[in-house]
Amino acid sequence: MSKHPLFTPLALKRGPAWPHRVALAPLTNLQSNPDGTLSDDEYRWLTKRAEGGFALTMTCAAHVQPIGQGFPGQLGIFDDAQLPGLTRLAAAIKAAGSVSSVQLHHAGARTTADLIGEQPVSASDTEGARALKGEEVEGLVEAFVTGARRAELAGFDGVEVHGAHGYILTQFLSPETNQRQDDWGGGAAGRSRLLREVLTGIRKACRPDFQVGLRLSPERFGLETSEAMELAEEVMNSGLIDYLDMSMWNYSKPAQDPSLGGASLLDLFARLPRGGTRLGVAGHVRSTADARRCIDGGADFVMAGRAAIIHHDLPRRFQADPDFTHAPLPVSAAHLAAEGLGPSFIDYMRTWPGFVAP
Ligand SMILES: Cc1cc2nc3c(=O)[nH]c(=O)nc-3n(C[C@H](O)[C@H](O)[C@H](O)COP(=O)(O)O)c2cc1C
Repeated sequence: MSKHPLFTPLALKRGPAWPHRVALAPLTNLQSNPDGTLSDDEYRWLTKRAEGGFALTMTCAAHVQPIGQGFPGQLGIFDDAQLPGLTRLAAAIKAAGSVSSVQLHHAGARTTADLIGEQPVSASDTEGARALKGEEVEGLVEAFVTGARRAELAGFDGVEVHGAHGYILTQFLSPETNQRQDDWGGGAAGRSRLLREVLTGIRKACRPDFQVGLRLSPERFGLETSEAMELAEEVMNSGLIDYLDMSMWNYSKPAQDPSLGGASLLDLFARLPRGGTRLGVAGHVRSTADARRCIDGGADFVMAGRAAIIHHDLPRRFQADPDFTHAPLPVSAAHLAAEGLGPSFIDYMRTWPGFVAP
């Protein structure tokens, strides 16, 4: 049994403590029904992870408005018709002893008119997308808040707001994609207003111990690392969130901004004052050694993505074996099926180069 702090409980400001520090990253799997309701395949994929010992089991990005759908077969949280499936999922995750969360998402311009049946929306007019009007931005805030309330009603312990990867919240945060002249644009404070209003609204609408996380990107997607660091520090000290999940894609990668002196992304964000907010990192956590390095480097927890697709019981393997590394890629479709992935998810993983054996 490991004595490393990776397997010590993690108390958060609000909501249940996590039994240890290995969480399931949000993973789009294209398995939901066309109306955004949960399918049996998605239920199986996620509950198998909860049973496999993940401290926190997070859903894929779930869209908060029909117009925010980014993928076919995406989970939805914009309609009460989606509540029964979400309720069944939350109960099963809880029964397995895992903390549960829904990732709240809106794709903004990163979708197609073919998928959503109308022109996509964004902070400003872009090729293919139109700028949201002021009252539509208010409606967007409301949609995130209502999504969080639905997650609460379904029995989830909390939600994570998806502010990373270039989707609508990033489109507002970035000066490249947000050229608005109103209160939702301009300087850093105006561009981050939408994010703040979403988090404040969720806090007001949901019960006091509802656990709220935020996912941000440390670089790319139109935001300089220095501004991402300022935003991360501000929000971690705002009292609005319980954890910040930094989506690094590779935790040990040096920041691409040369003025940051080659420091790793993990190091840059771990050194920010965090005011009791928990800091998690995602990206290339493939082995027990990787997970330990993240914790030793100052993170409070890790989020595992692809390694968790390969092994439903990754936390147990990390705990049992300090030398564990996930099975070599590519893995067979039969292996993924045995690990609880349905056919649509396996087909999606074929689009990730080198993941599934031909
Ligand atoms: C198949 C797949 C689907 C993903 N879907 C989401 C998602 O819905 N929301 C999100 O924030 N990140 C998503 N990501 C990013 C992961 O959460 C994670 O941050 C990333 O894969 C890096 O971690 P890893 O190296 O452990 O895979 C996805 C990644 C993969 C591979």
